Amino acid sequence: MAYHWVADIEGESRTITYDELHREVCRTANALIELGVKKGDRIAVYMPMIPEAIFAMLAFARLGAIHSVVFGGFSAEALSSRILDSDCRFVVTADGAFRRGAPSPLKPAVDEALKSCPDVAAVLVVKRTAGEVEWVEGRDHWWHDVVERQSDLHEPEAFPAETTMFIMYTSGTTAKPKGIYHTTAGYLTQAATTHYNVFDVKAESDVCWTAADIGWITGHTYIVYGPLINGVTQVMYEGLPDSGGRDRWWKIISEYKVTILYTAPTTIRTLMKWGDQFPEGFDLTSLRLLGTVGEPINPEAWMCYREHIGGNRCPIVDTWWQTETGAILCSPLPGITATKPGAAMRALPGISIAVVDDAGNEVGRGEGGYLVVTAPWPAMTRGIWGDPDRYLDTYWSRFPGTYFAGDGAKLDPEGDLWLLGRVDDVMNISGHRLSTTEVEHALVGHPAVAEAAVVGASDDTTGQAIVAFVTLKLSAEDANKDQAALVEELRDHVAHVISPIAKPRQIILTPALPKTRSGKIMRRLLRDVAENRSLGDVTTLTDPTVVNMIAGLMVTDAASDD
Ligand code: PRX
Repeated sequence: MAYHWVADIEGESRTITYDELHREVCRTANALIELGVKKGDRIAVYMPMIPEAIFAMLAFARLGAIHSVVFGGFSAEALSSRILDSDCRFVVTADGAFRRGAPSPLKPAVDEALKSCPDVAAVLVVKRTAGEVEWVEGRDHWWHDVVERQSDLHEPEAFPAETTMFIMYTSGTTAKPKGIYHTTAGYLTQAATTHYNVFDVKAESDVCWTAADIGWITGHTYIVYGPLINGVTQVMYEGLPDSGGRDRWWKIISEYKVTILYTAPTTIRTLMKWGDQFPEGFDLTSLRLLGTVGEPINPEAWMCYREHIGGNRCPIVDTWWQTETGAILCSPLPGITATKPGAAMRALPGISIAVVDDAGNEVGRGEGGYLVVTAPWPAMTRGIWGDPDRYLDTYWSRFPGTYFAGDGAKLDPEGDLWLLGRVDDVMNISGHRLSTTEVEHALVGHPAVAEAAVVGASDDTTGQAIVAFVTLKLSAEDANKDQAALVEELRDHVAHVISPIAKPRQIILTPALPKTRSGKIMRRLLRDVAENRSLGDVTTLTDPTVVNMIAGLMVTDAASDD
């Protein structure tokens, strides 16, 4: 069995054997050929978590075409900028998706996005909901019309090892996301070996559930490519953790006898908050290994995962990696590495890392520094699509000859690795990467906003949360609006421009932002304010009183929330 697909709506499911998967992928490949897809073409996949998303990804890979999966929660604007950046000529989508039992449309966002992408020749649409959709004749094609009538035989072509396989956009430190691209042989080799070693998988008996979305790298490597190469059975779940009730995950695990669960700390914290009574009602003894990814896991969440989900039986693998690394680079190996709650422990065999200071010299054990990878690895990104200079500049210029990951880290006295969060302007919200600049740009795009500064502040559930400091245009009529209403409008605006995941937790309207004499916004101070810390050095500010005033506004805002 390849997949047990579990729908958002309870009771709906589909099992797909490897043979069926193969035939579905062949049919999809034949349909794509009919639509004109050729080797090297770029295709955007904007889909809910349904099997057709995987059929499409595998069919493109089979044809030597390059998929760019865009998370279905992104806005039309985010989708169109990604389509344009890599000049995608095709889009695969669905009419809608289900969220907690209710249909929510997806195709309107594609229609909106494509208004600015005239070169997209064809859109293939899976019918998932019963909703009406707008239709552009000649451009739009129903999946069931085009794919289902195809032959299920397709001869795969061979391509050189360095053929680009996919692009995955991720946030960098500027407003423009980076199109990280990966090639076939190196990526697939490491996807498979890391899945095999880190999760210690047994094809004949394991049921793996990577509870992530295929719109992120975790879904690519550990829902699609790694597990399929290793021939394991998987659960693929369409819904939210509480679709159908707060016990939904535990129902799925006990029903499908999941043996390996892999998810993000933010989900573990949310499930913890809901209470132990939900997992306790189910038989979770099939689980034998737990994994975590995407952000540092606090020891409390780690212990809870171990005790309440893993029954004190299952090793936990805290896996550190990135979109750029393609596969896990650092993690304990179950049965080999003794674990510590909150530590990613060791670089995997063949991977060389170091923690260095500003000058690139290794720091002593126990001291914080920058995480670098000092030797190449098979699944490393081959670059940023269309922007080789940015690639060199971002990863290779800070410490020439070594890969700069953008993370702070330390090696403890025993040489075990602890991740300390990003050292650049990238935030990690519920395990999703977002740049402060991206959110600032979205805010400044609102007619009422003059200037915005965004920081990631620590948050008990989401790891970090977005706090925005906004000054308004004096002339704007919105300046006279009710401030609470305007704040809500701005939060919705960001959700609309980027995605609901980018919605600031808090927006503080302030008459001024703290700036240095050279005009730079002092984000460090704003982070102190947002996290309620005493303020650091303010002597370089043009007007040191500004920051105290903002701290005052922050306190008032928090009080009005209670
Ligand atoms: O900051 C690190 C954090 O997530 C970043 C990579 O994000 P992304 O490319 O979206 O990939 C997420 C899934 C691989 C890293 O730079 N991160 C990832 N895993 C961990 C982590 N931080 C701490 N511990 C981890 N296990």
